[in-house]
Amino acid sequence: MKFPAVRPRRLRASKIIRDAVAETSLEPGDFIYPIFAKPGGSAEPVPVMPGINRWPVGEALIKHVEEALSLGVNKFILFGVLPDDMKDPLGTGGYDPQGVVPRALRLLKETFADKVLLFADVCLCEYTSHGHCGIVMERRGRLYIDNDKTIKLYAREAVVYAEAGADFVAPSGMMDGQVAEIRRALDEHGFHDVGIMAYGAKYASAFYGPFRVAASSAPKFGDRRAYQMDPRNAHEALKEVMLDLEEGADIVMVKPALAYLDVIRLVKTHYPWAPLAAYSVSGEYSMIKAAAAAGYIDERAAALEALTAIKRAGADLIITYYALEAARWIREGLPF
Ligand code: PBG
Repeated sequence: MKFPAVRPRRLRASKIIRDAVAETSLEPGDFIYPIFAKPGGSAEPVPVMPGINRWPVGEALIKHVEEALSLGVNKFILFGVLPDDMKDPLGTGGYDPQGVVPRALRLLKETFADKVLLFADVCLCEYTSHGHCGIVMERRGRLYIDNDKTIKLYAREAVVYAEAGADFVAPSGMMDGQVAEIRRALDEHGFHDVGIMAYGAKYASAFYGPFRVAASSAPKFGDRRAYQMDPRNAHEALKEVMLDLEEGADIVMVKPALAYLDVIRLVKTHYPWAPLAAYSVSGEYSMIKAAAAAGYIDERAAALEALTAIKRAGADLIITYYALEAARWIREGLPF
């Protein structure tokens, strides 16, 4: 391989040849679109995430999903948003069969049936008054999250979501053994066909900030470092993913995406047979939005480059707030 016989530029000379030799593709079918569902009222924009709304379970949400389908986006992950006065220390709003996520799941399944694939985030932070992802206990004057009590509630939540029509449940609380507990509960209730997309490698990240505003789910005291992963660790992600796969996860996940492309690549290399999702989180979305609004970058080009990079790193699926816009932009042609 030597110049002048070898000239890499020949493969970059035109759009046609670049498209012909491109290693990575990006399609609307790669995306899972997050939806914030709230109990009532009207659609409410999330100021820290321009373009994203909290949707009451009803007609406006149906219209929004129809719009997504018309763009080729047919996978959705649901998150519940509750006003403070509907939260309690045990997060009962999360496993109430009449709760906001079960209602949204039922509505969307009744309306769209198999045209949509529905994922439901399984966690308690959106429903607990203290904002932690599990049950808070006290031991010798210290507060901690009780792992084993918490995963029992996740299992209950997962069964409620399965009953309501979720195709996949997505445990995001980073409790030990959560996938095994959920798998056992789903099977006991006859939901062998309901899958688990496990947030295996979920880091304690500053990039969740805008989501926590959107879902009002920030912890009221302390932080999540005692359960979410340490950003300094890459290889530990392999342990988390291995455990999730052994416990019965069907799809594994790395989250966030952009600051953890190395982890995505590592997991894909070690478990090439495991479908891998990457969650391009709220902070990644809001950063591009804010920089574009300030006139610092070209939003379309930056967003499509970021999404392509996440696929290139090894993700099979991307959870992204850009799903609808990106699907539209992809139709107009990729900027490469
Ligand atoms: C719930 C959950 C969070 C996100 C997804 N599921 C927040 C958190 O862990 O604090 C963040 C998603 C995002 O930032 O877009 N545990």
